[in-house]
Amino acid sequence: MEAEVKQGGLLKTKNCDKFAPKQFNMSEISNYVHNNQDRFIDELFELLRIPSVSADKQYAADVLKAAEFVAEKLRSAGAEQVQLFATPGYPVVYGEKIIDPAKPTVLVYGHYDVQPADPLELWHSPPFEPVVKDGKIFARGSADDKGQMYMHIKAFEWMMQANQLPCNVKFMIEGEEEIGSEHLEGFVAANKALLQSDVVLISDTSMISNEHPSITTGLRGLSYLEVEVTGPNRDLHSGVYGGAVANPINILCDLISSLHDENRRVVIPGFYDAVEAVSEAERAAMAKAPFSQSDYNADLAVDAELGETGYTTLERVSIRPTLDVNGIWGGYTGQGAKTVLPSKAYAKISMRLVPNQQHDKITQLFTEHFLRIAPKCVKVKVTPMHGGEAAVTPTNSAAYRAAEKAIETTYGKTPIPLRTGGSIPIVTMFERVLGTKSVLLGFGLDSDAIHSPNEHYGVWNYLKGIETIPHFFRHFEALSKA
Ligand code: BES
Ligand code: MN
Ligand code: MN
Repeated sequence: MEAEVKQGGLLKTKNCDKFAPKQFNMSEISNYVHNNQDRFIDELFELLRIPSVSADKQYAADVLKAAEFVAEKLRSAGAEQVQLFATPGYPVVYGEKIIDPAKPTVLVYGHYDVQPADPLELWHSPPFEPVVKDGKIFARGSADDKGQMYMHIKAFEWMMQANQLPCNVKFMIEGEEEIGSEHLEGFVAANKALLQSDVVLISDTSMISNEHPSITTGLRGLSYLEVEVTGPNRDLHSGVYGGAVANPINILCDLISSLHDENRRVVIPGFYDAVEAVSEAERAAMAKAPFSQSDYNADLAVDAELGETGYTTLERVSIRPTLDVNGIWGGYTGQGAKTVLPSKAYAKISMRLVPNQQHDKITQLFTEHFLRIAPKCVKVKVTPMHGGEAAVTPTNSAAYRAAEKAIETTYGKTPIPLRTGGSIPIVTMFERVLGTKSVLLGFGLDSDAIHSPNEHYGVWNYLKGIETIPHFFRHFEALSKA
């Protein structure tokens, strides 16, 4: 006892390790990953060859095929009750292994659907024909999220084979994440008892770098909508009519450029009203995260960054809300020239939101503002598409500490907690419907080019993830008792 007290900060670690499975041998999982790496990559390749693009109905059969693949791999790894739960959209793959109802339960969430691969011509190798190049797996979905989701199935495989599963585990892998998880809430609400757990474990985010591991502690919310601007009732000759009739593309550009002021702040009235003021302490902590603006610019081949005045780049992409045009079209965009004054113009617009901003409210504020500023010479229509709330995850929970210790074990460094800019709207949904908080144990990098051509996932990251996950389970089980 005395000896333990003298060790001060180490006391906690010692106490916790006492509860870990007696025979846990760190090198065992590392050896397993090392000895099976080729098979792990081959199996992931098989999954990556299935073009499970949820946004495009043309791929519906492939999306289902990916669901079946995941179910089969869960079964062969040792999961029970494996089944596809039908939803009005794509099915949710479920599986579980309950070793003792008295033990804590981890609910692993991931998604088997992927973003469309366009623009195809910018890929160096076909998006659904995975290859390893320079130590990276190139394919659509390699990092987001097939590669990261599959790490959990392989980590589970080891825990089963080595008799090292320290607590209960449930898997819920969905197929509609990239289109807004529309039917997931209905599924979760209807299956609350089945999905009961102590934490939701998600690997669908990134780290600062392999040298500076981090854990995502905040995600932005999202309001996504489409606008349509109509001028004359038909396309017109741009010489015969040009100059006398509103060109909806010109007007749409005017409207869009009016949405930001000279400080790159969004001018929609009320847009910032609910925005959480982040404490100076948290901003100071953020400023300590390793970050180089010149490396950032060089990576993106831009000569200068641009964002809201008064905030750093890391702040601009995490604690501040934004408005961006994701696509804009209308008129003639084919080969050569066509002199046309179009009837219609369109744009897809996303607003990334921060805690306390409600996506429905922001969508409403945008719509009211956009209709108000539209000139009489055009008609404007705003169609909401999907949305979700921002999320902040706790850093003082057993689950966060378990994630921290797991990364310390396999990376040899304490991970930095950091909010990031992407959105996983189901994080707040799980909190609201199930009352369960999440841990975002992501192993990707921002430079993985998710949603872009040449998406990739480091082989090192993939294997490191498989190696780290069992440590999370071990520590979570131990810390849950404390
Ligand atoms: N995995 C991403 C979210 C992500 C990526 C978070 C990197 C943090 C770092 C997820 O698949 C995604 O793309 N989400 C969408 C939102 C969804 C509602 C379509 C997004 O952020 O655009
Ligand atoms: Mn994802
Ligand atoms: Mn995504």
